Amino acid sequence: MALQPHKSNLPPTLEWRDDTLYLLDQTRLPLESVVEATDSVEAVWRAIHELRVRGAPAIGVAAAYGLCVAMRPEREASREAFLARLEQHAAYLDSARPTAVNLRWALERMLAHARGASATTGAGLYAALVAEAGRIHHEDVELCAKIGEHGRPLIEPGKGVLTHCNAGALATTGIGTATAPLYCAHGEGASFRVYADETRPLLQGARLTAYELQQAGLDVTLITDSMAPALMAQGLIDLVIVGTDRVAANGDVANKIGTLGVAIAAKHFGIPFYVACPSSTLDLRTARGADIVIEERGADEVARLAGRRIAPEGMKVRNPAFDVTPHALVTGIVTELGIVRAPYEANLAALFAKRAAA
Ligand code: MRU
Repeated sequence: MALQPHKSNLPPTLEWRDDTLYLLDQTRLPLESVVEATDSVEAVWRAIHELRVRGAPAIGVAAAYGLCVAMRPEREASREAFLARLEQHAAYLDSARPTAVNLRWALERMLAHARGASATTGAGLYAALVAEAGRIHHEDVELCAKIGEHGRPLIEPGKGVLTHCNAGALATTGIGTATAPLYCAHGEGASFRVYADETRPLLQGARLTAYELQQAGLDVTLITDSMAPALMAQGLIDLVIVGTDRVAANGDVANKIGTLGVAIAAKHFGIPFYVACPSSTLDLRTARGADIVIEERGADEVARLAGRRIAPEGMKVRNPAFDVTPHALVTGIVTELGIVRAPYEANLAALFAKRAAA
């Protein structure tokens, strides 16, 4: 299945074709555009773990197809054996990265679908899994478009918008989450400026956001992370919009490391700070941001840059990949069902009730 998110030269984030998952290797962008076939569950796990496919919604879709990759060799199995093996593979894929709740969400949805399917054979269950992964994929494209519609009015002509990390087309299979309002406004001919934080240490802002927005013809300027408050002080930034890997029930938001600093600076300068995500990123099972598991990655990502060591040998390094922005700093959460505002605990619960009733 090939779903093209928007009119740009970007290859799709991922594709399911001939019972094989194809992933665009995001670690090689923007210099090289390489699509790799992943033909084992271990290869899908590694691709998620090593950020070749990354961004919460894209991780979810990749994991759903990852289960199909895992179960393809099990088509001859009995229903019972197939379901038992499926659970093992789901637990394995779930261990690839801890923070983005879309990973667990997609795997649980796939498991529930297989358990509820009437198929009596492994082949029948495999077909049901492929169909469900395809639906998760299609829905992701649609959810991004709806986030774009709801967030579009936030983008005013002539204004400056700051974003952090990559919550763009590359982080989803649609037009992104934080970028969806930007693509919608640009598509309508609106003129505005986007500032992309480079996003140390893995530079998703420089390598991915700046790249995809430039490819799509938006007015985008790359800055280092430490420049954002100075640009705010100069009056160049009127709005911040970022993505998220998990929103707790009280509205606390986990996103790429550095987001918290941006939110604090935005509060200081009275700049609205919005978060965009599909409802699959809202985790009512996690009460507060402090309960969210934050991924700690290897020291080399900080101590080395572009393949060269930049810190003394033996240096102690911390490398949390995400931080938590308290809900008090969040102006609103843009979802496919509309913009949620404080009080978050009550309004997020109401959003879920509305979704369940729909
Ligand atoms: O480590 P990454 O690149 O997967 O981190 C991605 C982010 O922090 C994104 O902002 C988040 O996943 C939202 S993607 C729509």
